[in-house]
Amino acid sequence: MLTIENVSAGYGTFQALFGVSLEVRAGEAVAVIGPNGAGKTSLLRVISKVISMTGGHIAMEGQSIDEVPSHQIIELGIAHVPEHRRLFPRLTVEENLRMGAFVASARSRYEERLAFVYELFPRMKERRHQLAGTLSGGEQQMCAIGRGLMSGPKLLLLDEPSAGLAPVIVQQVFDLVRRIRQEGYTVLIVEQNIQQVLKVVDRAYLLEVGRIKMSGPAGDLLANDEVRRAYIGL
Ligand SMILES: Nc1ncnc2c1ncn2[C@@H]1O[C@H](COP(=O)(O)OP(=O)(O)OP(=O)(O)O)[C@@H](O)[C@H]1O
Ligand SMILES: [Mg+2]
Repeated sequence: MLTIENVSAGYGTFQALFGVSLEVRAGEAVAVIGPNGAGKTSLLRVISKVISMTGGHIAMEGQSIDEVPSHQIIELGIAHVPEHRRLFPRLTVEENLRMGAFVASARSRYEERLAFVYELFPRMKERRHQLAGTLSGGEQQMCAIGRGLMSGPKLLLLDEPSAGLAPVIVQQVFDLVRRIRQEGYTVLIVEQNIQQVLKVVDRAYLLEVGRIKMSGPAGDLLANDEVRRAYIGL
C-alpha cells in the first residue's frame, strides 16, 4: 500500500532522515520504533508532506505521491494522527470529530462514520458534548484517533499514541490499535513504547539517528538481544 524508497529529509540544513526505505502492505500494522530524536515523527511528516523530502520516492497504492501537496494527502486515503494529539481544546468531542471529515469525499458519509467511531469508542459518544481540552489523556487519544478515522482512510499514521499516558491507559491505547487493525485498517505506528507496540503489530523497523538499523517480524525484534538490551532494558 505504501512504499518508501531511499527517502531523505530534514529541517533547513539539518538532515533528519538518511535514505530510509520501508513498506506497508494492505491490512498490515507496522511499527517504527526508536529512541527520542531518531526521526520517527519526521518520517510520518514526510509521508503526509508536512515536510518535503530532499531525496527518494514515496508511492501510495502504486501511485507516486512525490509531487502531491500536503492538503491532498488525505484525499489519497492517508490520515495522520500527530504527536501530542493536537485536538481543538475549546471545541467539543463531536466538533473535533467533524474536523476529521472536512474533505469533500468524507462529508457525505459523515453520519455513517460518526456512528462507526462512536461504536468503536462508546466513551466518545458519552462525552460528545464535552470540550476536548477537558478530556483525560487517554480520552484525548481516542478522540484524536477517532478524528483520523472520520476521513475514512486506508492508511492511518499514528505518532506515539501512548506518550504521556499512565501505564494502565497505555495498555488501553494498544488494545485500540489492535482493534483498529482488526477492523481492516492499515496502520503505520511510531512508538517509543517498544515492548508493548511490538505485541500489536505484524512487522517493525528500528530507526536510529535517521537510518533504519533493523527490520523484521515484530516477534523477531522483540526477541532480538540487541533490541532487548538497548531498548527494553532486559
Ligand atoms: N522543526 C524542526 N526544526 C529543526 N529540527 C527539527 C525539527 N523537528 C525535529 N527536528 C530534529 O530532527 C530530529 C528528529 O526529530 P523527530 O521529531 O523526527 O524525532 P522522534 O524520533 O520523533 O523523537 P521523539 O521520540 O522525541 O518524538 C531531531 O534531532 C530533532 O531535533
Ligand atoms: Mg516524535
